[in-house]
Amino acid sequence: MTVHLEAAPGDVAPVVLLPGDPLRAQFVAEQFLTDATCHNRVRGALGYTGRVGAHRVSVQSTGMGMPSCAIYVHELLAGYGAKVLIRIGTCGAIQPDLELGDVVLAMSASTDSAMIRHRFAGMDYAPTASFDLLRRAADLGAGLPRPPRVGPVLTSDTFYARDDDWWKRWAAHGVLAAEMETAALYTLAAHAGARALSILTVSDHVLTGAHTTADERQRGFAQMVELALALAAQVA
Ligand code: HPA
Repeated sequence: MTVHLEAAPGDVAPVVLLPGDPLRAQFVAEQFLTDATCHNRVRGALGYTGRVGAHRVSVQSTGMGMPSCAIYVHELLAGYGAKVLIRIGTCGAIQPDLELGDVVLAMSASTDSAMIRHRFAGMDYAPTASFDLLRRAADLGAGLPRPPRVGPVLTSDTFYARDDDWWKRWAAHGVLAAEMETAALYTLAAHAGARALSILTVSDHVLTGAHTTADERQRGFAQMVELALALAAQVA
């Protein structure tokens, strides 16, 4: 038991999927895991542990944004000995050749947040995915009709930006999409010697304003969960 997780030691598997949304955690547990039990209800941040085939896998919601995500990731690493953390989330595309529903594997995560700088006394750390997880996920997704795009993302503190052009400097440097958690996940996992990867579906397009319907989001989410669970089964 940690400050924000009521699971008993051993109730959480070493491989944990991390959606932001608690209802997505419940959906994964109910639709994709065998014999899932709920290990956390504190603050409504639902968490479950079940099986994929013979492998134990957990799914723990993190809430939105780096501070919330960092709390759950820290407690999973330090309190429960998590070894593999796979974020399953959404992102806003900032490159014209990305389409709604595309899957992005976040190779690295730049950030406009001060959170990582605080940790590094004002210097810039480069939050990076586990190469092992990234390569496995890219290989697993290679046969899909639209294979995952592998590249850098922006982890932002802001969802509703005041400046309409905020994305341009990032897009000009090859950043694929914006989301709000990955830089914290990669930094904390690296410090703990754990492996981490963010798998993201494009839920909206910042350049065009297009966004997915709830139904499209659900289908895109299911495709991403299947990829994440295939990866989890390989490394569990
Ligand atoms: N910005 C930040 N986070 C997001 C976005 C976005 O446009 N879309 C989905 N998550």
